[in-house]
Amino acid sequence: MEIAGKVVVVTGGGGGIGRELALRAHREGAVHVAVADLNEDAARETAAAIGASAVAFRCDVSREADIQRLVRETEAAAGPIGLFCSNAGIIGMDPDFDNAASAPNADWERSWAVHVMAHVYAARAVLPGMIARRDGWLLNTVSAAGLLSQIGSAVYSTTKHAAIGFAESLAIAHKDHGIGVSVLCPQGVATGMTAGGFFAGADVDGVITAEACVDAAIAGLRAGKFVILPHANVADYTKLKAENYERWIGGMVKLRRRIAAARAAHLAGAPSGG
Ligand SMILES: NC(=O)c1ccc[n+]([C@@H]2O[C@H](COP(=O)([O-])OP(=O)(O)OC[C@H]3O[C@@H](n4cnc5c(N)ncnc54)[C@H](O)[C@@H]3O)[C@@H](O)[C@H]2O)c1
Repeated sequence: MEIAGKVVVVTGGGGGIGRELALRAHREGAVHVAVADLNEDAARETAAAIGASAVAFRCDVSREADIQRLVRETEAAAGPIGLFCSNAGIIGMDPDFDNAASAPNADWERSWAVHVMAHVYAARAVLPGMIARRDGWLLNTVSAAGLLSQIGSAVYSTTKHAAIGFAESLAIAHKDHGIGVSVLCPQGVATGMTAGGFFAGADVDGVITAEACVDAAIAGLRAGKFVILPHANVADYTKLKAENYERWIGGMVKLRRRIAAARAAHLAGAPSGG
């Protein structure tokens, strides 16, 4: 798919990968970019960097009414949405690194809402029009964790796997309606999410810039890819996982041990809190 001439929506457009997706959509020739974020000031800042063809929305993607308003007002102002980027996401680590079930129910519910239901709400809002026009594309930012795993965050891994599951259903059900679906699945990207200290002490495998991540997204869209992998090694890891699940789990156990040791060293060296 080509972005030139399209009306584009980006959620989580106030920062990180979403901000870069919005700026790049404009540079690729989008006629209109709707920048939606929970952080309205951040959405406004991205829209201002684009100029007159962008509009900022305060939108909590976990609320269906917010997504419906985003779609309704964007289409009323600019016409049918050609590309909807469901990109907003959150991360939290298991409170107890040694207990994969330790996150409270509220964390599971929040991540389920942001990583899965938000994609359902977006699809529900745009699909009828896209099916009628036999045209449209859904780009869902997921994560390599949706194909592999995120050590130290069962909530993130599980909800990102579910996001892949929903995107597969969309792709299978709507190919014959002329609708495309892509999942953007990076490993580490240098954004606010990774700057938060969650990965402190961990040997994160090849952190890339948001610009590089979005370069891969644009190339993947252009090539009509379902899975877009900004880190080439994720294709190899996914293949290893599919070929021999037990061996893959064994490798992840070893990686977890290394991360646990690095975390312990990091925590031992960190100044104690007040
Ligand atoms: N940074 C990484 O290493 C990495 C790797 C793989 C996947 N991802 C995914 O990429 C996407 C973007 O992450 P990022 O790294 O740019 O993070 P970020 O924290 O820099 O940006 C996320 C943006 O989403 C917004 N947001 C959060 N909850 C929201 C909600 N309920 N409604 C609307 N907006 C909301 C935030 O305000 C923020 O502007 C996420 O889905 C994330 O899971 C990130």
